[in-house]
Amino acid sequence: MIIAILGAMQEEIEPLLDYFDDIEVVEFAKNKYYKTKYNSHDIVLAYSKIGKVFATLTATTLIEKFGAEVVLFSGVAGAISEDLKIGDLIVAKGLSQHDLDITAFGHPYGYVPEGEVCINADKDLLELSHKVADELGIELKEGIIATGDQFVASSERKNWIGETFGADALEMEGASVAVVCDALDVPFFILRAISDSADMDAGFDFDEFLKSSAKVSANFILKMIEKL
Ligand code: ADE
Repeated sequence: MIIAILGAMQEEIEPLLDYFDDIEVVEFAKNKYYKTKYNSHDIVLAYSKIGKVFATLTATTLIEKFGAEVVLFSGVAGAISEDLKIGDLIVAKGLSQHDLDITAFGHPYGYVPEGEVCINADKDLLELSHKVADELGIELKEGIIATGDQFVASSERKNWIGETFGADALEMEGASVAVVCDALDVPFFILRAISDSADMDAGFDFDEFLKSSAKVSANFILKMIEKL
């Protein structure tokens, strides 16, 4: 199987690059794609750069140019749910774009005609992730992740996103990957470890915990691919 592993930032993908040997680097569309092999699988890794547009470009490239048959996202997120603390893992059961707004035309937030407010992740990958979490004795929360081109550092904004989308965590790429994978019929899985609480301390916490939380997520992804 050709497995794509995607992150947004170098810090999110570095722990995975450190893990694999014999990496071939392919440059395409102003980005680097890292090809390797693991067990019987071909793996292609990339970090997209931050935000929905770059994530869309990279996810599409991973599928259309590199032939990815499954896309696994690894990275960090801001917590909305009070249950989620720094370092905790959340997997998306569904993803919404919190900054998509044509409410002026009577549509709900996150909706455009012929689209969906929430795109569901692949059920088999979710099931597998819970099996892996059980085996490792790790708590893995499943919830809604909201995505937007905005680093959220305000309790007011975060609470609005939580209430409007029923979201448990927020970040800046997941829903784009969901849109691409849903359209191209490729199963996807979005995993995030919490780096901050999207409140007034978010900028400081993010800087402090980006690397450690990114590692938590990357280690879990490695356990997942052992089972694919
Ligand atoms: N990713 C991690 N923390 C975030 C935040 N507070 N806002 C947006 N994306 C994030």
